[in-house]
Amino acid sequence: MSKTPDLALRFAGIKLRNPLVLLSGTAGAGREIKKLVELGRFGALCTKTVTFQPRPGNPPPRIAETPSGLVNSIGLENPGFARFLEETAPGLRSLPLPVIASIAGNGPELSRMAEALTGAGPAGLEINLSCPNVGGAFNPTAPTEIERLLREVRRATGLPLLAKLPPDFYRIGDLARAAETAGCDGLTVANTLPAMVFDLKLRKPRLGGITGGLSGPAVLPVSLYLVHRARQAVGLPIIGSGGVHDADGAVSMLLAGAQAIGLGTVNFFRPLAYREILQALAEFRTAGPGRRKPTP
Ligand code: SIN
Repeated sequence: MSKTPDLALRFAGIKLRNPLVLLSGTAGAGREIKKLVELGRFGALCTKTVTFQPRPGNPPPRIAETPSGLVNSIGLENPGFARFLEETAPGLRSLPLPVIASIAGNGPELSRMAEALTGAGPAGLEINLSCPNVGGAFNPTAPTEIERLLREVRRATGLPLLAKLPPDFYRIGDLARAAETAGCDGLTVANTLPAMVFDLKLRKPRLGGITGGLSGPAVLPVSLYLVHRARQAVGLPIIGSGGVHDADGAVSMLLAGAQAIGLGTVNFFRPLAYREILQALAEFRTAGPGRRKPTP
């Protein structure tokens, strides 16, 4: 009988049992989602982004479904860093997988949070530079600004550092290079695509925050393009993030150049998809090109 291949990898200095990463904003801090999935079967979990000050988030409605997609306008609702550090961080080590803490803010805030989280529970940090639902201070867009910000954070922590880049089709290579030059250990490529949905009866936007970020199967081909471009630009390991919902999408992410595969919106509509994906990854590891049957 053939042996199941070992899918373990070191990603940005973090030991993962397999390449599957539960993406930020779709898995809480593990407590909630562990009622739906076996956390110990994933490589890592990335927590919902926390900011230095608490944020109430955007007005409702905050979610709108679209064909093959979901537009969210959450607005980084979170209880603030002090509560995260006191109430959430200490429990992260007892989860059966490494946890990456996602943080957003300006340079001084990010540095303070990164320093305080060092040794406090998370196995690594993801700097969210790309939430489409908050203002510019949290989202530098120029490669030079991104590099400056990430250098500041790099000085504050020895934890593995990932940059979650925006889906900037034209400059994704430059942004990836900026993160690499600043000393990041890995990338998450990318965040949701800026989007809008209208209620035609009311003739008004469906989201309380007016605009939002599109995720789900609809964005997969775009994510593959972004990962491919980032891979051409840098050697950093990449979490391919955006639209993976089945085995074919997961394998495509690896072919595009990702080392790890993010599962996000799929957790809301098919949380057990990871089972078939893990099986496909094992087959992909053992079979040569053309050997794996695509999902019917
Ligand atoms: C949000 O909280 O608005 C979504 C988070 C993100 O897109 O980074």
